[in-house]
Amino acid sequence: MAAAAMALQVVAAGGGCCCQRPVLGPDRRRRLVAAARAVASNAAAAAKVSEEGKVRLGGSDVAVSKLGIGAWSWGDTTYWNDSEWDDRRLQEAKAAFDTSIDNGMTFFDTAEVYGTALMGAVNSESLLGGFIKERREKEQIDVAVATKFAALPWRFGRGSVLSALKKSLDRLGLSSVELYQLHWPGLWGNEGYLDGLADAYEQGLVKAVGVSNYNEKRLRDAYARLKKRGVPLAANQVNYSLIYRTPELNGVKAACDELGITLIAYSPIAQGVLSGKYTPEKPPTGPRANTYTPEFLTKLQPLMNRIKEIGESYGKNPTQVSLNWLTCQGNVVPIPGAKNAGQAQEFAGALGWSLTGDEVEELRSLAREIKGIKMPIEES
Ligand SMILES: NC(=O)c1ccc[n+]([C@@H]2O[C@H](COP(=O)([O-])OP(=O)(O)OC[C@H]3O[C@@H](n4cnc5c(N)ncnc54)[C@H](OP(=O)(O)O)[C@@H]3O)[C@@H](O)[C@H]2O)c1
Repeated sequence: MAAAAMALQVVAAGGGCCCQRPVLGPDRRRRLVAAARAVASNAAAAAKVSEEGKVRLGGSDVAVSKLGIGAWSWGDTTYWNDSEWDDRRLQEAKAAFDTSIDNGMTFFDTAEVYGTALMGAVNSESLLGGFIKERREKEQIDVAVATKFAALPWRFGRGSVLSALKKSLDRLGLSSVELYQLHWPGLWGNEGYLDGLADAYEQGLVKAVGVSNYNEKRLRDAYARLKKRGVPLAANQVNYSLIYRTPELNGVKAACDELGITLIAYSPIAQGVLSGKYTPEKPPTGPRANTYTPEFLTKLQPLMNRIKEIGESYGKNPTQVSLNWLTCQGNVVPIPGAKNAGQAQEFAGALGWSLTGDEVEELRSLAREIKGIKMPIEES
């Protein structure tokens, strides 16, 4: 109790908004508070995130944990898992789910297209639904589910959104989801899709609606169209990490802040690269190898070295520093993907503490020096 109370005080004094921290000599301040912070962060991470510790999604009534968990890799055989899905991976994904719940990370992001029945894949929504059901058979748990509508070219009109949603709900075994998102802008039919989102909201099948991979113009148009129906656009889910800061540059982050739309950050640890485990000598395998080449990983080293140094002063690893950097931007909910319990456990340590404003800016400027990253998915 004493440790927890002290920890909370330390967090309250220094861990709120990184931008409001007093400017002190970084070394002196670090030495003074590093030990207290380590206690603080561990205690805060271990404690379940309370209702007050949650964040509201945009102007909706839905409150979610400050960090969500991405479920793209669960069941997938096209991008993740070395093209294989088996019982061992299933048990690991289940352990990732349980560990996330145990650590108060109760917001899960999936999509109807994750794990489509190709090459032995298993649908991610079905897996997530099964994990929720199994856990709920033992105890009451708080879970918020976000899933997504695939704007496939042959899907027309608002009715296609409702029918896809009902199939997602069937797979999830739920009567509603907390957030339903348009996964990407369609080649056509987007106004109909937005109307479909509003229909789903009015029918109580979804508690909040969002979009994903929307640029600033599309975002503003979607916001205005939904507003006419009295439906708040709660979130825009885009690629955002320390090394992929396009939302800061293309107006998406600023528009989210202005309109009160939560920015949900996907690939927040750059698909594992910001954990520091991939190096020029040991790059990732599979499709990630095309983006995170040895050449790119060489350019990344100065940033990774500084992330590690800063992390050491807080007793945190690079994954936790990289996620914390995102939460320091304000109005951002990162949704890192966890394949196993260990990864989920590490994510929990990204909460309950905060980088200083100086550290946030220093990492941003180091990251600016890295050129030449081209992601497979761009906001359009
Ligand atoms: N809306 C969209 O278009 C869109 C696009 C992409 C993703 N998303 C969503 O965002 C979620 C997260 O994005 P993401 O999965 O692309 O990338 P990410 O969260 O940046 O990276 C996840 C991967 O990093 C590795 N990792 C995780 N924790 C780690 C740790 N503690 N230490 C070392 N490595 C760790 C794991 O892969 P390895 O262990 O294999 O390295 C894991 O699969 C997805 O699950 C999905 O829900 C949405």
